[in-house]
Amino acid sequence: MISNEHRELISAAREALENAYAPYSNFRVGAALLGGNGLIYSGCNVENASYGLTICAERNAIFKMISDGEREIKAIAVVVEGNRVVTPCGACRQVIREFARDDCPVICLSSGAREDYQFIELLPRSFSEVDLK
Ligand code: THU
Repeated sequence: MISNEHRELISAAREALENAYAPYSNFRVGAALLGGNGLIYSGCNVENASYGLTICAERNAIFKMISDGEREIKAIAVVVEGNRVVTPCGACRQVIREFARDDCPVICLSSGAREDYQFIELLPRSFSEVDLK
């Protein structure tokens, strides 16, 4: 199912990919989130000569959303070039976990392919401090 909201989300992720700074891996990634406020927040990966300082597109978009005062992720799109899609890395999944419900749509796209997930499929049985209370 592709709603208009999801269509906008996907084009925002594709636009963000154009701004990716990835001179070391040459692997450009764009991400976009639909916030609980109805706004779209996008991000790209930003690499660094000190490789470990690299930030993924997903977390960049999430941190923009949080900085803007919104705390709920309603849907996520991740776009890469080439034929194969990627799903968010482990670090990003844990950060998504903080702000998304189990059924949050995660739309993973490449130039030619699309895979749709619910967030819980990507990070089942995850750690949450809330679980400890
Ligand atoms: N990367 C992302 O931005 N998101 C992902 O989901 C996977 C990996 C970036 C990090 C690095 O700049 C490049 O892709 C190669 O790992």
